[in-house]
Amino acid sequence: MIAKIFSCAVLGIDGFTIEVEVDISGGLPAFDLIGLPDPSVKEARERVRSAIRNSGFEFPLSRITVNLAPADIKKEGPAFDLAIAVAILIASGQIPYTQNLHHAVIVGELSLDGNLREIPGTLAIASSYANNNQPQTDLFVPACNAEEASLIKNIQVRGVESLEQMVDYLIGKLDIPITTPKPEQVNQNDQQILDMSEIKGQENAKRALEISAAGAHNLIFYGPPGTGKTMLARRLPTILPPPSLDEMLEITRVHSVAGKLPAGTPLITERPFRSPHHTSSMVGITGGGKIPRPGEVSLAHRGVLFLDELPEFNRELLETLRQPLEDRNVTITRSAATLQFPADFIFASSMNPCPCGNFGDPRHACRCSHYQIQRYRSRLSGPLLDRIDIQIEVPRMDYTDLEKPTAAENSATIRERVQKARLMQTHRLQGSNTITNSEMNPSQVKKYCALNTEGRALIKQAFNQLGMSMRAYNRILKVSRTIADLEGSENIETSHLAEAIQYRNLDRELFK
Ligand SMILES: Nc1ncnc2c1ncn2[C@@H]1O[C@H](COP(=O)(O)OP(=O)(O)OP(=O)(O)O)[C@@H](O)[C@H]1O
Ligand SMILES: [Mg+2]
Repeated sequence: MIAKIFSCAVLGIDGFTIEVEVDISGGLPAFDLIGLPDPSVKEARERVRSAIRNSGFEFPLSRITVNLAPADIKKEGPAFDLAIAVAILIASGQIPYTQNLHHAVIVGELSLDGNLREIPGTLAIASSYANNNQPQTDLFVPACNAEEASLIKNIQVRGVESLEQMVDYLIGKLDIPITTPKPEQVNQNDQQILDMSEIKGQENAKRALEISAAGAHNLIFYGPPGTGKTMLARRLPTILPPPSLDEMLEITRVHSVAGKLPAGTPLITERPFRSPHHTSSMVGITGGGKIPRPGEVSLAHRGVLFLDELPEFNRELLETLRQPLEDRNVTITRSAATLQFPADFIFASSMNPCPCGNFGDPRHACRCSHYQIQRYRSRLSGPLLDRIDIQIEVPRMDYTDLEKPTAAENSATIRERVQKARLMQTHRLQGSNTITNSEMNPSQVKKYCALNTEGRALIKQAFNQLGMSMRAYNRILKVSRTIADLEGSENIETSHLAEAIQYRNLDRELFK
């Protein structure tokens, strides 16, 4: 007898329907899995066999063939277990095929005792059924994933505890209720306890951080050790506007596929801040692997990717950032398919001016040789630096800065200004896909970043003196647009432009 059940595979951040066909025929007992399964799927045989037995059913001693169709999608992971087990029970006549299976999609990993385990990517699976025109899908997922999947509208999600419970539902013995999303649970992390008011002095660096947040511009802090570069960058998320619901879903989807959704957090409600170590692997940063998973650039989607001590990172690894920084997504090519993960983040980084950190400091002698300094700086390529709009020095402070009685501004106050500036961008860019100034395409730059005569003369002079690239030119205009927005000015004044130009300091210093 043959039975067919629908399940779902995740490729990248999208779900694809998989038909699980089971045929049970006479002959010597065998259990074959076909349809381009990965070895991790083949292990399902052992789990399904034990789960069926331990749930009080019989595992048929016949020739069992499981086909996962279509064959051209590579299937990975344990998510087909539950669908295979149900199909075997139907094909062996132990339970009937019922009407409610017509529009059912079943996913879940079985443990040997028949209980269901958590699987990654249920939000991605649910999203891929939300927009189809067919009758509403009944999506069966492990109970611990149900809340996450239920965030998607237009789809009925039911959380299943075990194979036995699934069977009881199918034969009408009990109901598995539809999961309704709970009020948003806030993802508690240390971002909330960090605040800009903790940073003394460094007013220029704080201003740069505010501009970066307002227009989503990339930035780098450079300066001697212990001046607050890392401290400043870590507080960037505290002044960013909270994500919209759509953005929250995008962020959660990536984390869900990566299996990195914190326990008890069905929806991530804050912008991510990712700070990978410089020893991280290429796959860890950009994504990929045998079962392609999002890397740090995608986990930072809609938030901040912070690379501390930038020159310590492998140069080759830094070069791979060029593509996502430009395209705002990352492309992963594998033999079976080319996948794309979203990667729209603010790129923040820090560096010392030289290996000992004292180069250019009037009060400390630099111990590095010319060669060492050159080598250190050459790890950053010109093209990478070209993509960093705001390059700001964080110098050693004077003692008077430390003793200032006035308290520094807190994150909430700065965030208010950032939100006002973002609102101006939203109005201006309405109807396009662009959200922030940094994302404007060349025609939008031309339209919204017009300069007056004085401004044009100034940028011409800077363009020639700095030997600026077209990209740097466009980026300077975008930053000046943001500076004007922070001031509530519709026109870009010369002072706005001048400030934007001076943020390209490193271009001058490192690559002259
Ligand atoms: N401007 C500041 N206001 C208050 N505390 C500061 C400031 N700058 C540095 N600190 C203190 O010094 C510590 C080190 O700062 P931080 O790690 O940000 O330095 P850094 O510039 O990143 O140095 P390095 O180049 O060595 O990485 C912080 O944890 C903080 O306690
Ligand atoms: Mg640091």
